[in-house]
Amino acid sequence: MPVESPAFETKVQRMLKVTERLIDASEQRQMHLLHDHPWDAPVDKPFLMKRERISIYGTPYWDLASEEEIRRLSIEEIVTWWSGFVGLEQLVSEYYMRLVNLRKFRTLPRLETYLKHFVKEEIVHTLVFLKAMDYYGSEMYEVPEFVRSLFDDNASTGEYPLMAVYLTMMVEWLADIQQHLDTDADYVHVLAKSVVHAHWREEMRHIKFGQNVILALADTDQDFIDKARQFTPVFLRQVVDQGVTNIECFDRVGFKHPAFADKEALLEAVIGSPHRQALNRELVRPMMRYFVTSGIYVPQYHALWAEQGFEADIQEALAGDDDASQYA
Ligand SMILES: [Fe+2]
Ligand SMILES: [Fe+2]
Repeated sequence: MPVESPAFETKVQRMLKVTERLIDASEQRQMHLLHDHPWDAPVDKPFLMKRERISIYGTPYWDLASEEEIRRLSIEEIVTWWSGFVGLEQLVSEYYMRLVNLRKFRTLPRLETYLKHFVKEEIVHTLVFLKAMDYYGSEMYEVPEFVRSLFDDNASTGEYPLMAVYLTMMVEWLADIQQHLDTDADYVHVLAKSVVHAHWREEMRHIKFGQNVILALADTDQDFIDKARQFTPVFLRQVVDQGVTNIECFDRVGFKHPAFADKEALLEAVIGSPHRQALNRELVRPMMRYFVTSGIYVPQYHALWAEQGFEADIQEALAGDDDASQYA
């Protein structure tokens, strides 16, 4: 679509309206490091994840683990996610603040205003996650390579830094759906639930911002669109599979049964189990609809989605009748 067309202008206006709403919401309420969570709640053998979402559930390894090992895995698998958030959010704060300082969105000053709220929120999130790890007696995991390099090689090809916004939105979206589902059980400890739910509320705004920036501005950068269409299925596969677990979690728990020593077989079992495939479908469903309505998915590259195992998900999204206005 040509950038001077009325349709392009309509999309930009919609993005600006959404941005105003997000600015209002951030000005009214932002997470507080000390006051928003029950840091004084007693912690005695807490369980931090819904059992069905722990990596080994639905595999033969479940019956080889003791109840105590499973409980400790529920802590470590949440903490490895929180470590990913800390890594991503430290980097994105630094990167987005640089965009503001360099006036990369100078033609859209309200986006700059929102980015400042965004960055402030991420800084608080990293502090809250670090405090929560400490509260549960755990500590940071090494941040995955794909997160560490997320902002290294995405030099913008057009007027706006769309690739950084797009990648950030995608990781935030996937990670937050995952966390929300992970902690959705009565027995999940109150502090973990509080942290995840409060984070979810603010991340919903960050994700909406990213969705709308891409929907409105993608037409300004054909090179970005071409790249995004081709690497999205590959990147999505990588993030979905890496999100299942981190092999270091098993080392920290120190499982007694000898079957846990073969890490390769263990990873294959947890990533490939039919139970996990079903959870993954639930995870990617809302995102697939976005890829279709935003034009990131195009039939020309259907084979790439199929190769990465998203054939059924894409077909389901194609059968829906969504339009882009649902993201406003
Ligand atoms: Fe965050
Ligand atoms: Fe965020």
